[in-house]
Amino acid sequence: MNIFAIISSIFLLTLLGAQSTSANVQASVTSNSVALKWSPISGAVKYHVLLSDDQNTVVDRNETQFGTLLPNTLYQVIISAADVNGTNLANILPLEYQFRTVAAPVSNLHIMDVTESSIQLTWDMDNETDSYQVMVKNDTGAEMSATVVLGEEGATISGLHRMKFYNFDVTPVGSSGLGESATIRARTDGSGIKLIAIWQGSQGIFGGAAKIFRPITIPRGSYSIKVQLPCPVLAVKFWNAKLDKKNSVPADATYVLRQSKLWQRRKAEIGMNFYFTQENETTTCVISEDNISLEFGAVVEAPRDASVNTAIPLKVEEWGINGLVSVLLSELYNDTNADMTKPTNGTWNAKPEYGDYVIAVDSGAGCTGGLIYDDVWGMTRKSSEGMPGALPSTAYFVQDEMQWPTNEMGLLYGYNPEVCEDRSGITAQIMVGGPFVDAVFAAEDA
Ligand SMILES: *[C@@H]1O[C@H](CO)[C@@H](O)[C@H](O)[C@H]1NC(C)=O
Ligand SMILES: *[C@@H]1O[C@H](CO)[C@@H](O)[C@H](O)[C@H]1NC(C)=O
Ligand SMILES: *[C@@H]1O[C@H](CO)[C@@H](O)[C@H](O)[C@H]1NC(C)=O
Ligand SMILES: *[C@@H]1O[C@H](CO)[C@@H](O)[C@H](O)[C@H]1NC(C)=O
Ligand SMILES: *[C@@H]1O[C@H](CO)[C@@H](O)[C@H](O)[C@H]1NC(C)=O
Ligand SMILES: *[C@@H]1O[C@H](CO)[C@@H](O)[C@H](O)[C@H]1NC(C)=O
Ligand SMILES: *[C@@H]1O[C@H](CO)[C@@H](O)[C@H](O)[C@H]1NC(C)=O
Ligand SMILES: *[C@@H]1O[C@H](CO)[C@@H](O)[C@H](O)[C@H]1NC(C)=O
Repeated sequence: MNIFAIISSIFLLTLLGAQSTSANVQASVTSNSVALKWSPISGAVKYHVLLSDDQNTVVDRNETQFGTLLPNTLYQVIISAADVNGTNLANILPLEYQFRTVAAPVSNLHIMDVTESSIQLTWDMDNETDSYQVMVKNDTGAEMSATVVLGEEGATISGLHRMKFYNFDVTPVGSSGLGESATIRARTDGSGIKLIAIWQGSQGIFGGAAKIFRPITIPRGSYSIKVQLPCPVLAVKFWNAKLDKKNSVPADATYVLRQSKLWQRRKAEIGMNFYFTQENETTTCVISEDNISLEFGAVVEAPRDASVNTAIPLKVEEWGINGLVSVLLSELYNDTNADMTKPTNGTWNAKPEYGDYVIAVDSGAGCTGGLIYDDVWGMTRKSSEGMPGALPSTAYFVQDEMQWPTNEMGLLYGYNPEVCEDRSGITAQIMVGGPFVDAVFAAEDA
């Protein structure tokens, strides 16, 4: 194992379809398959092809394929000419041929660590692989030069540029040459803005597109970014973040963004489109990367007022040995998608941030055996096994992140009447923070 070799990243690889020719047979080999072709044998109507006493086939053309082969393994091929019934022609010598499958792509390839100039990759090392090649490409697939240092668990690629995406092709090198490669895309750390384009539309309207790069690692909670444009614009649109209308002042070209949902927080880049006019001498607006300023913020604490371990109104209905629990979040929380002009009952609070709360449904004292949760909608059950503070009679749920605005959640339950005589004690509460909730979301973030 020559794993400490330093390999330049500039390689030209022919990965799939490595061609080997021997006498009259040609093979196109991958890690788990082979495509064979041979020169036609005169007199043959069919060919009998035997692969290492393992697989065989009779074909009426001078080519065939085999799959389900093992990687990095030597195979023997014997091709005999056969008559119309597949019986070998005794007077014709079989063609013999050997090939080796290439090494399989590395498994479990992932990013370990990033800095502004380096990215560390790891994968499962295969002890039959002599070494690995790492090729560095930019986002358009062009090869880039960088320093690749192989280590015992992967490779560190350095000499990269900040806030830039790269693709890394990792290829095992074994006794059969280069194996199949696995590819991973990653970007270097760093934060700032990159102006992608400014274009001129009709009637003096200009458009622009930019990408805001957030630091890759941010603390838990919702992340904010203040964008200051040099002059007011006609319109602006953001992706992977929500515009905080309350704290934005469009007249001053100030926009505050929040990444308040878990899926947004996983996006370290925020897209931005804007439209502006470049008018006459009295009003000029030249927007450039230099005069858009960003303030990378602070994690905004979720509003927590009155929502710590609050009982949630429930509707429990029974039918036979089944029942339905509807969780009535709408009586507690302001659903921003709801029609606010209609009268509503209940206490109105802002919802806690996703990634911050768990709904706990307890089966009550008359149902010591607990409920069987058959179908759950609007929320997802979380395993409480090994979680600090979890009660055996309680099932724990989080509201599905993509259904964040919904207040309609519920579950169908069944029960064993012998250990659950009385279901009148079913309760639910919303748990915000605390060791159990933290453990659930830590497990989710990992
Ligand atoms: C043999 O294989 C080649 C390549 O697949 C093909 O072009 C040719 O027609 C085949 N010849 C016969 C006799 O089947
Ligand atoms: C192929 O098999 C059929 C039926 O068994 C037989 O009649 C025929 O003679 C065989 N052909 C050859 C070339 O052996
Ligand atoms: C490779 O590692 C596996 C698992 O650790 C082991 O079972 C196997 O014998 C090793 N093979 C060689 C060629 O060292
Ligand atoms: C990738 O590299 C090529 C060649 O250096 C360059 O022309 C191209 O603009 C680069 N693309 C990106 C997205 O960096
Ligand atoms: C030029 O600037 C003045 C003052 O801001 C404005 O009223 C006017 O609409 C502008 N545009 C054009 C095309 O004159
Ligand atoms: C923004 O920067 C560009 C180029 O650096 C400059 O020409 C322009 O005047 C600046 N715009 C404002 C509004 O300051
Ligand atoms: C609910 O939230 C919206 C948007 O934040 C707000 O306009 C509305 O007044 C709130 N409704 C209640 C009843 O608090
Ligand atoms: C609010 O409560 C009143 C009295 O309990 C009830 O009549 C009304 O239907 C409720 N409204 C809503 C929107 O739930």
